[in-house]
Amino acid sequence: MSGRLEGRVILVTGGARGIGGAACTLAAREGAAVVVADILDAEGEALAAGIRSRGGRALYARLDVSREEAWAEAMERAARELGGLHALVNNAAIARDGDLEQETLEGWNRVLAVNLTGSWLGMKAAIPLLRRAGGGAIVNVSSIYGAIGGNGAAAAYHATKGALRIMTKNAAIRYAREGIRVNSLHPGFIDTPMIAPFMKDAAGQKSGMAQWIETMTPMGRVGTPEEVAEVIVFLASPAASYMTGSEVYVDGGWTAA
Ligand code: NAI
Repeated sequence: MSGRLEGRVILVTGGARGIGGAACTLAAREGAAVVVADILDAEGEALAAGIRSRGGRALYARLDVSREEAWAEAMERAARELGGLHALVNNAAIARDGDLEQETLEGWNRVLAVNLTGSWLGMKAAIPLLRRAGGGAIVNVSSIYGAIGGNGAAAAYHATKGALRIMTKNAAIRYAREGIRVNSLHPGFIDTPMIAPFMKDAAGQKSGMAQWIETMTPMGRVGTPEEVAEVIVFLASPAASYMTGSEVYVDGGWTAA
């Protein structure tokens, strides 16, 4: 049976773990050759090796998304070692807690560099390869916090995720006639290392934050990385051929409430 990404090459930033890791694993299962791109070398290498051990094609590329020259190297490897690129998933991000008064200029600049500039650099680097492939797909992983104000914390994170949402629509329009689709994906709270520190209190019990998340989520639970990966693979695949500039929520109903 042929997979949903058979014959395609996909690069996932932040691909070593969490949502990105699940996306790499599922994309490989669906027939894609995968570039696992991250700065966590041991985890990234292990994930790529796991895919190869199951008969898939994968390589790990060290890629700090905020560095333009690192993008050029990763694109060169995708072209040389895997034959090109058909899909880019801008998934890498960092989160910081502070509200806008607590945030420092240094912290603000770092969050913007990774979450927003990193995604822009990724699109800029990938589009020539997608064009060469006759078209392709970009999935920008934003957040429910790219559309709503949350609880007033994590000011820099919200700023980047909101900007990513509208940068996606701008790019979608620019590249629509070239067969390059660009969509944003907005997860709710997902069980990954990013949120793990906030989910338990000092005694190892369910934290107040975890209880608040369950109360606020109509489905009453956090999501799994695999539930988000399904939608990433769908958006990257030909099944989403008439979707561009869309914002897709995978949030257990959070933003419907
Ligand atoms: P995570 O922290 O488990 O994974 C993020 C990955 O990005 C890590 O492997 C990390 O090493 C990598 N990364 C960080 N800085 C990088 C850089 N400069 N260059 C390359 N890679 C870098 O987080 P998670 O939860 O898997 O997040 C994935 C995406 O989903 C992020 O964009 C996040 O904002 C978004 N998201 C996550 C939610 C959640 O509840 N977990 C909710 C909404 C959105």
